[in-house]
Amino acid sequence: GVDMLVLGIETSCDETGVALYCSQKGLIADALYSQIEMHNEYGGVVPELASRDHVKKLLPLIQSVLDQAGITNKEVDAVAYTKGPGLVGALMVGTMTARAIAFAWGVPALGVHHMEGHLLAPMLEETPPEFPFVALLVSGGHTQLVQVDGIGQYALLGESLDDAAGEAFDKAAKMMKLPYPGGPHIARLAEQGTAGRFKFPRPMVDRPGLEFSFSGLKTYTLNTVLAIEKAQGELEEQDKADIAHAFQEAVVETLAIKCRRALEQTGMKQLVMAGGVSANTRLREKLEDALAKVGGKVFYARPEFCTDNGAMIAFAGCQRLKAGQQDDLAVKPVARWPL
Ligand code: KG4
Ligand code: ZN
Repeated sequence: GVDMLVLGIETSCDETGVALYCSQKGLIADALYSQIEMHNEYGGVVPELASRDHVKKLLPLIQSVLDQAGITNKEVDAVAYTKGPGLVGALMVGTMTARAIAFAWGVPALGVHHMEGHLLAPMLEETPPEFPFVALLVSGGHTQLVQVDGIGQYALLGESLDDAAGEAFDKAAKMMKLPYPGGPHIARLAEQGTAGRFKFPRPMVDRPGLEFSFSGLKTYTLNTVLAIEKAQGELEEQDKADIAHAFQEAVVETLAIKCRRALEQTGMKQLVMAGGVSANTRLREKLEDALAKVGGKVFYARPEFCTDNGAMIAFAGCQRLKAGQQDDLAVKPVARWPL
């Protein structure tokens, strides 16, 4: 068919992401500005600062992506943006910028669900999964298993009853005074950890179903940290590494058990994992192992497309455009939005 060129904009949290995706040539440009350093000082994302920084960075980033690709606005067929879920102020920046640009350029604007962006991101890779598949969405705000039958055909199989997996990583890291976001720091420390010094619980694995719970693991981590602090004062680097190791093993094994169960229940063979935590190499290893036993194959995006980025929004927007989606001039970012 005709090739379609879609500009994608992501501003739901603490990264400004912009990309250009072409239905024929694939991804042709991609740029990201991360605010992590700015928020780090506060130990987490400060919503007001996030919005203000998106305002400052977004248009220059869009210009740089167009320049990178040698594209003029006349060639762009649609503008896709993250409509939600996320921080409402941050979402408003991307939403209004995208809608206004699309209006000026006379092309459709497409509001994309952030988690749909994540779940389709592995399709940007060389050997993409094919519909239908089961997706494990593991980010800072979500832990969900979803049956994916096609674009827009998503059925929730199970989700976390409390904290998201990424949130648990971040909170455990904070307890050990590691920088925000804690996931990558825990993962790095875990490599130096002594296996077997601590054994953390695997929440809800002996219960049937595909629900998760990570808040107990958080309490368990806190109690472990407090016990060491009581005995010896500050944590040593090795203590942190040992806790990180035990914590990561518990999360990763819990996720792997539920993913295997989801494949067995649905009879599917492909598992797609997406969202920030899917960048975790131990999780990739463990899932590949666990699913190989049931003939399952695991798909994931390159690490920079596991965390928030513009490419996944441009790609999801292109799929939506092909499917005939067209949004009104009036727009409304949505802070909470089920997939
Ligand atoms: O998808 P994402 O960038 O933003 C949300 O939509 O939430 O995910 C961010 C989350 C954070 O909680 C971060 O700690 C976690 O992903 N994360 C990781 C790793 N890289 C990022 N968690 C574990 N291991 C990693 N390597
Ligand atoms: Zn995300």
